[in-house]
Amino acid sequence: MSIIKLPGLIDPHVHLRDPGQTEKEDFYTGSRAAIAGGFTTILDMPNNKIPITTLILLKEKIKIAKQKTACDIGFYFGSIGDNLEEFDKVKNLAYGLKLYLNQTTGGYIINEKLLRKIYKEWNRATRGKKPILLHAEEDVLQSVEKTLKETKHPTHICHVSSKKELTKIIQFKKEGLPITCGVTPHHLFLTEDDLKKAGPYGLMKPSLKTKHDQEYLWKNLQFIDIVESDHAPHTIDEKESVKPPFGVTGLETTLPLLLTAVAEKRLTINDIIRLCYTNPAKIFNIKFDYSNNQTKVEVDLSRKYTIKNENLFTKCKWSPFNGWKAKGKVDTVFIRGIKVFENDRILTNPGSGKII
Ligand code: DOR
Ligand code: ZN
Repeated sequence: MSIIKLPGLIDPHVHLRDPGQTEKEDFYTGSRAAIAGGFTTILDMPNNKIPITTLILLKEKIKIAKQKTACDIGFYFGSIGDNLEEFDKVKNLAYGLKLYLNQTTGGYIINEKLLRKIYKEWNRATRGKKPILLHAEEDVLQSVEKTLKETKHPTHICHVSSKKELTKIIQFKKEGLPITCGVTPHHLFLTEDDLKKAGPYGLMKPSLKTKHDQEYLWKNLQFIDIVESDHAPHTIDEKESVKPPFGVTGLETTLPLLLTAVAEKRLTINDIIRLCYTNPAKIFNIKFDYSNNQTKVEVDLSRKYTIKNENLFTKCKWSPFNGWKAKGKVDTVFIRGIKVFENDRILTNPGSGKII
């Protein structure tokens, strides 16, 4: 045994599908997956079946989450440009505004003209305080430059996957723009070469890239602000269908994969704390009422195990990392001093987590 203590980690990018698609996941199963993976705080995306674009919808979602969540959870708001009058109403409830500039699950995509309009209004409503999160891949990322320079609104680029994207972001950063970015474990640990074996379980947006892209991400880790799982569950039936939806699970595999990279000396424990705790808290302005380190994760650095679909807590029960060998395992998790995970068991009930 080689137990070390980490703060309860934060995953600022998950899709728990509740309400609307609870056959894929719900707040209880998703929050259990978070805890089993060492994450005690998560931020949930707005691309529900009915996208979260009004105060009423956001309040409804929060009400459902309150009854079900086992970990702490906060929410983002969504927009396709037709709900600007809602921004003032939700500014204190949402951690940020998520905008999609590429097609993906939920299909609420916007163009550049709308982007600028939305930026200006969100900037005004939140007085430049709550970030805008962008799904903007490759060339599309280039197209946001003008808006970023004009508004200087804090912007987080989600799931950077390629050399082209990261090069652009590094340039933005060097120009002094208020920009941050995240990378997913699947883009750090898988490439398009894994698609053959993973089949539909390796399909997501952005897609897996080349070895060369992957190496560029690792080499430039100092420019990457956070690791975000983009936990995006779909049922096995959907994934096995003729038109499988995009998205992979991640909450339970992020930390074991990162710990394995630590064992291989590709990463340090301090990197994990920076990428999965300090920076997400700072970027999304998460204020904890945690006192005396009572929310923590104990991991066993020496424990080797195989990631197996059947052992996952996520409702959809699959991972693109099924069969992978990991070194480093979540041993015990505490939230506000209460033990919520031990011996591979969740020890807490629906509704025991907090809305943050
Ligand atoms: O692969 C993805 N799945 N990418 C996204 O941006 C959305 C997500 C989902 O909600 O399924
Ligand atoms: Zn996502």
